[in-house]
Amino acid sequence: MKILTTIPEVRETLNAHRAAGRTVGFVPTMGALHAGHKSLMLASVPENDITIVSIFVNPLQFAPGEDLEAYPRDLETDAALCTEAGADYIFAPSVSEMYPEPIETTVSLTGVSEPLDGQSRPTHFSGVATVVTKLFSIIGSCSAYFGEKDFQQLAIIRKMSLDLSLDVRVVGCPIHRETDGLAMSSRNIYLTPEERADSVVLNQALAKGIAAIDAGETDPAAVRDLMAAHIATADSGTLDYAEVVDARTLLTPQVLSGEVRALVAVQFGKARLIDNMGTTVAVSGSA
Ligand code: PAJ
Repeated sequence: MKILTTIPEVRETLNAHRAAGRTVGFVPTMGALHAGHKSLMLASVPENDITIVSIFVNPLQFAPGEDLEAYPRDLETDAALCTEAGADYIFAPSVSEMYPEPIETTVSLTGVSEPLDGQSRPTHFSGVATVVTKLFSIIGSCSAYFGEKDFQQLAIIRKMSLDLSLDVRVVGCPIHRETDGLAMSSRNIYLTPEERADSVVLNQALAKGIAAIDAGETDPAAVRDLMAAHIATADSGTLDYAEVVDARTLLTPQVLSGEVRALVAVQFGKARLIDNMGTTVAVSGSA
């Protein structure tokens, strides 16, 4: 496993592999790697000849006052996890390698980027779309693996890749959870013991919401209220949003039908946690 730090090094290395007929799998991350990230690498390794993981804490996607400085960074531990997973390269650029000058070109989306986290973190997705476009340009033709943990981010990357004809096959991977159901996240380390105990309400609320839908509830507001009420039982958490949306448009329909996704965001002290769960509502007459 080799660590590359410059853009020309990555281009040269991967172009040589592609010229020899090898396929490239790409796993973009911000480091502080855990089993959730590892599951993306484990999806890439058997499907591609070469797997490269990027580790870059992207300043563009943090708003002032968010945790850019505090975000955990530990390249040595991350490299050990990548080796274990069978990755071949890490791309770990500096901020000045990625952004040698203040950036004047950005990528932003309407539609899927607007609801949910788009409301709570208005500049976030443009920062994500810009860095991922840049990373795709550096890596070149590849299959790129993203977690459903960040469901809206995945929808944005898919739409952006389609709209801009990017030479990337976007692959979505399931959410990896702790044994009590908490979705793994680099930000879970911010949780105090009390907040960690309370944080299971995200997964529990989603399970309740999905169970209600599976039992026939088709009113999104009723499911939202059910999930919000459960999250309110956690003293240390403050609800940001609880919603049920159409899985493709991410908009709340009048009546739930087809592929739907329940999503929640809750602030626990320094950690803002998100999670989601999906189901399919049989369109009446088709079941
Ligand atoms: P990061 O939060 O490090 O996540 C990197 C990838 O790991 C994302 O695709 C995310 O959805 C996935 N992931 C995180 N936790 C997961 C879990 N518990 N189960 C499955 N997959 C999980 O997302 C980012 O970084 C950045 O926004 C990035 C795309 C790298 C752009 O900077």
